[in-house]
Amino acid sequence: MAEDLIIATGSKAEQYQALIPQIKALIEGEPDLVANLANISAALKEQFGWFWTGFYIVKENELVVGPFQGPVACTRIRKGRGVCGASWEKAQTIIVPDVEKFPGHIACSSLSKSEIVVPVIRNNEVVGVLDADSEAYNHFDTTDQEYLEKIIEFIQW
Ligand code: SME
Repeated sequence: MAEDLIIATGSKAEQYQALIPQIKALIEGEPDLVANLANISAALKEQFGWFWTGFYIVKENELVVGPFQGPVACTRIRKGRGVCGASWEKAQTIIVPDVEKFPGHIACSSLSKSEIVVPVIRNNEVVGVLDADSEAYNHFDTTDQEYLEKIIEFIQW
């Protein structure tokens, strides 16, 4: 059984540094992908309180919503569509300071103002994306990118 998450204070980098070993411990030795994505979503939500945090999984050439924390979200996203579909197509992390200024942004909720999407790449293919949304503009930066990319690395996908 998992122990309670210890919520870290301090700078954003310090919060990630305290969170990462806890996420590693949560998913270590657990081969079930859905279980691990669910716990990672919950751990990020508990630590950072983002509006929406979760995963989309590539299935039959579409992104299909996977484990997440937050309000109900769009179920399917096609390649190249929205921030998630663009991150998939480019196989790159995308930071969006103001979603209204991102052409083609898919508004699952009008409350979401900024966003980061990190692709999960295995054997040179994008297999899914991690998406985080905030109710504040300019919420995500390269520190989030650096640490979220690290978290994505150690998921057994
Ligand atoms: N805004 C995303 C869609 C997913 S939701 O934010 C959960 C996009 O433009 O791809």
